[in-house]
Amino acid sequence: MSNYDYKDALETLSYIQKFLPFTPEIAVTSGSGLGDIAALVENPVTLSAEDVPHWPTSTAPGHSGKIIIGKIHGKPVILLQGRVHYYEGYSLKAVTFPVRVLAMSGVKTYIATNASGAVNTSYLPGEIIAVKDHINLMDDNPLLGPNESRWNERFPDMSHAYDAGMLKVFADLGLKTGIYAAMSGPSFETPAEIRMLRLLGADVVGMSTVPEVIVANAMGIRVAVLSCVANMAAGVDPDHTLSAQEVLDAMKTHSQKLAGIIAELIERL
Ligand code: HPA
Repeated sequence: MSNYDYKDALETLSYIQKFLPFTPEIAVTSGSGLGDIAALVENPVTLSAEDVPHWPTSTAPGHSGKIIIGKIHGKPVILLQGRVHYYEGYSLKAVTFPVRVLAMSGVKTYIATNASGAVNTSYLPGEIIAVKDHINLMDDNPLLGPNESRWNERFPDMSHAYDAGMLKVFADLGLKTGIYAAMSGPSFETPAEIRMLRLLGADVVGMSTVPEVIVANAMGIRVAVLSCVANMAAGVDPDHTLSAQEVLDAMKTHSQKLAGIIAELIERL
């Protein structure tokens, strides 16, 4: 039984450290269908999530997740392929447990990718958006509960949650920026909810990443998030029906482009 606490994280860390030939500087978490990033890793050592103590594994069959250790552009990287989600029934402590362990391993830069729906109608499927801020509408926070002071202070600042330096690299690469609204899912939003998100200032909507960003910031890690627009959000085209398959197909199509941007970012870090 895992509590996803500091003691569990020490056990997980000591297991992973047996496979770490270096202190990883950069961690990359890739979301659904965004697997091409793994091909960038030189001399990879791959761990299966289910072999790692306390590591949360996806409830979707065949999507157990991998941890890939190696170098990209000569920089020590740890790549988490696949994440677990709040909508699977995991607590946000479980969802963010990998980020806790990464921070304890020495990671200083956290790069995450996800799939999203475009709330802002000037964004189109296939576009990669550099997330510059978020709105947490999951109605939960991974830091709720008694504070673990060995991990973070009680009230972490979130004024600069997305690293300005990495956003500058994305701007140089010509990417648009946007505000990501996190919903719990797993149902897609209603058209009325999407209109609400638009009024709130959201550009894209998704069901992940924000808890990871909160924990990474709390632990002093700089963060970049790239969101691949899979579909126009609910109601933008009233005749359109949303499906998970559509999201996965879009991610497959654009995974290579996203991997290229991450490689470019890591080279410039
Ligand atoms: N809504 C929420 N999450 C998503 C969407 C969406 O439209 N597309 C991909 N992930």
